Amino acid sequence: MKQRSFVMLKPDAVKRRLAGEVLGRFENRGLKILAAKLLVITPELAKEHYGEHSERPFFKDLVEYITSGPVLATVIEGEECISLIRKMVGATNPQEADLGTIRGDYAIDTGRNIIHASDSETSAAREIALFFEDSEIYDYSMPDEEMIY
Ligand code: TYD
Ligand code: MG
Repeated sequence: MKQRSFVMLKPDAVKRRLAGEVLGRFENRGLKILAAKLLVITPELAKEHYGEHSERPFFKDLVEYITSGPVLATVIEGEECISLIRKMVGATNPQEADLGTIRGDYAIDTGRNIIHASDSETSAAREIALFFEDSEIYDYSMPDEEMIY
């Protein structure tokens, strides 16, 4: 089943010039980028996006960090891609993330863990709608789709 995930390269990824490299991992895997934009998140949007964590002790730092510089927000599509991307991203705490995962390869600290990816179809739909208008999401065919699937 084709799914769409909301994937966001956080300010540390952009500032460390890792955005292209990390997005390239998804492209190399055969996933398709349907939308992408660089933006500085407002505190309001940050609080909405991370609403499920509003009562957690790290919430204030999380909002400050995610609004501290541009992020690269994207929509990525592929077969069963939500869990696949979470696997490629690795554990929330990079110290626990396996080598070969994005967090395991590029990050050290939970507060600066490079990337966000939706954890379910429900959160993907919610997060995509928070960041993108329908008109900003492009559907197109990949010439090598038959080789990938
Ligand atoms: P969470 O949704 O639990 O992790 P994930 O990004 O893997 O879905 O948490 C959201 C972000 O909040 C996480 O990427 C980094 C930050 N965070 C902390 O700073 N400290 C923590 O203890 C946790 C659990 C998360
Ligand atoms: Mg999460």
